[in-house]
Amino acid sequence: MTDIEKLESSILADIDTASDEAALEAVRVAALGKKGSISEVMKTLGRMSNEERKEMGPKLNGLKTAIADAIASRKEILKREAIEKRLVSETTDVTLPVRQSPAEAGRIHPISQVMDEITAIFADMGFSVAEGPDIETDYYNFVALNFPEGHPAREMHDTFFMEPDENGERKVLRTHTSPVQIRTMETQEPPIRIVIPGKTYRFDSDATHSPMFHQLEGLVIDKSANIANLKWVLEEFCKAFFEVDAVKMRFRPSFFPFTEPSLEVDIQCDRSGNEVRFGEGDDWMEILGCGMVHPNVLRNCNLDPDVYQGFAWGMGIDRIAMLKYGMPDLRDFFNADVRWIRHYGFRPLDIPTLFGGLSG
Ligand code: DAH
Repeated sequence: MTDIEKLESSILADIDTASDEAALEAVRVAALGKKGSISEVMKTLGRMSNEERKEMGPKLNGLKTAIADAIASRKEILKREAIEKRLVSETTDVTLPVRQSPAEAGRIHPISQVMDEITAIFADMGFSVAEGPDIETDYYNFVALNFPEGHPAREMHDTFFMEPDENGERKVLRTHTSPVQIRTMETQEPPIRIVIPGKTYRFDSDATHSPMFHQLEGLVIDKSANIANLKWVLEEFCKAFFEVDAVKMRFRPSFFPFTEPSLEVDIQCDRSGNEVRFGEGDDWMEILGCGMVHPNVLRNCNLDPDVYQGFAWGMGIDRIAMLKYGMPDLRDFFNADVRWIRHYGFRPLDIPTLFGGLSG
């Protein structure tokens, strides 16, 4: 093989293995560029004798043309390959389903859902929503609600106390939503008709108790609110919430310092199967405490018990959420497990309303 043939076959091999247009351009420059291997050989023509030049001139020109042609045809192939690759990578399959929007993928926590359901029901009866702070004073959490200092009913509340402040006062994490009754009566003129959803705290933890839990409080104050009204409100609520036509309720005497008389309410249920069913069966389940607002509580809020009267109730939201949606362990509510929320959560745009259906 002559030197020229060797050069040609090595350049042709480089052309063949150039994998894209940039690599091919590098091969072209290395062969035909100013300092390229062929250009260098061309320069030797000047130093040749006439005889030699006659022989080598056409050979070298032939080599130049052959390489230029090979580069041109390889360029065509690479161009076509690049286009085909792009076509494949940029293909859109228009038959694929539309991707879920974030609003579809997110889920509403069952507690938020149940709070929305409950407020939808009471809003429909003309109640508005009131809220108060999670960190409360002893006065609002206990004293104003007729739990004097040292009263044994305080013991039931497993209270979390804050460190004493500069005045030696120890605030508490509210043990119930009832302090918001006081805050509302202090600032609003009767008639008052409010529900108070919110977080509450007690030192307690097992499958049905969590140190942070949720309550919903209700309060009605006017000149004639009575126990019959209370029973009606609670019965309407239970029917709407559990989405049944009728539900039997049982009112048992009880004790709360801030109500007189005080009652506990059980609702009819059936526990014979795997799940608890409401509105049927001959079993009972306790769901809330209630009563007529104690005259001392009215007095503490500067309301004259000879003019005003009212009723109140309080229930655990977590508990009735578990009952309605069949969640076995309360602790899962607060574990932030995405699989759990995907299973038990609610679609964000299905906002509960009485006319559209509560639970979708
Ligand atoms: N605050 C009570 C508790 O947490 C619940 C309660 C009972 C609230 C009776 C009320 C009521 O408003 O009337 O144990």
